[in-house]
Amino acid sequence: MFRRKPTDTSAPPPDADDVVVVVDRAVNPYLVLFHEPAGYRAEQVRSLRNRLVAMNPDGEPKALVVTSAVRGEGKTVTAMNLAMAFAELERHEVVLVDADLRRPSCERYLNLNAEAGVADVLLGRVAVDRVLRPAGYRNLMLLGAGTRVGNPAEVLGGSRLDELLSRLKERFQYIVIDTPPVLPATDAGVLASRADGALLTVRLERSLKNQTREALRVLQDMGGNVLGTFVTELRGRDPDSDQRLAYDPEPGEEG
Ligand SMILES: Nc1ncnc2c1ncn2[C@@H]1O[C@H](COP(=O)(O)OP(=O)(O)OP(=O)(O)O)[C@@H](O)[C@H]1O
Ligand SMILES: [Mg+2]
Repeated sequence: MFRRKPTDTSAPPPDADDVVVVVDRAVNPYLVLFHEPAGYRAEQVRSLRNRLVAMNPDGEPKALVVTSAVRGEGKTVTAMNLAMAFAELERHEVVLVDADLRRPSCERYLNLNAEAGVADVLLGRVAVDRVLRPAGYRNLMLLGAGTRVGNPAEVLGGSRLDELLSRLKERFQYIVIDTPPVLPATDAGVLASRADGALLTVRLERSLKNQTREALRVLQDMGGNVLGTFVTELRGRDPDSDQRLAYDPEPGEEG
């Protein structure tokens, strides 16, 4: 189990007008670990990662759910940035799992084609090792959502989910799981109850307090180990233009 400790950090957005195209891949611009690994926002995600690593002193493989109360609160982007930050650690193999079988978006955000994935494994149609694929980021693999199913709650609620997580823990140190929001669907509660920890993303100034509280209660009632919240969309000055937050090596001292 992760040790519980409140986590509160932020990854505010790049300029919303930015269109970032890297070589021939159009990757979601909010994936700051991909686009701006040296920036302040990427460092905030590393700070969250470091706290999670500190909560796991024995270094055992851990499955971590990223969710939120309602839709559009930054779950997917947070899960992906966090997975990339874990993958930066030495000798760490990491997998990002798209368990949002209702509105999957990990493949789209990475500009990859949708292929077989979680749903196909949970339905017993394919072995997980056959559908894991590189996410296009060093040491990070992707398990996409897979074939669309009409009964996602049942598919996720079956016994194969535990088998899937155990299998992934044989190979990966961190398993980061993107999920649907907690209040409209039971999926995230089910996933959180089987994972080692859950993080709740909150959009500052937009998320409603009572919905966030209700989501926390649902996760806890389901037996989820809520480790903390990740606050996105802080307003104000762009942190990357604030010199007090910059701490690059002095000229001439880079190795
Ligand atoms: N920090 C941010 N500031 C502004 N927009 C953001 C930020 N992070 C992500 N977005 C954009 O907001 C939208 C929602 O983000 P994301 O897909 O991560 O949320 P989600 O909670 O996973 O949504 P859903 O509930 O639909 O799965 C996306 O278009 C994404 O590009
Ligand atoms: Mg999402």
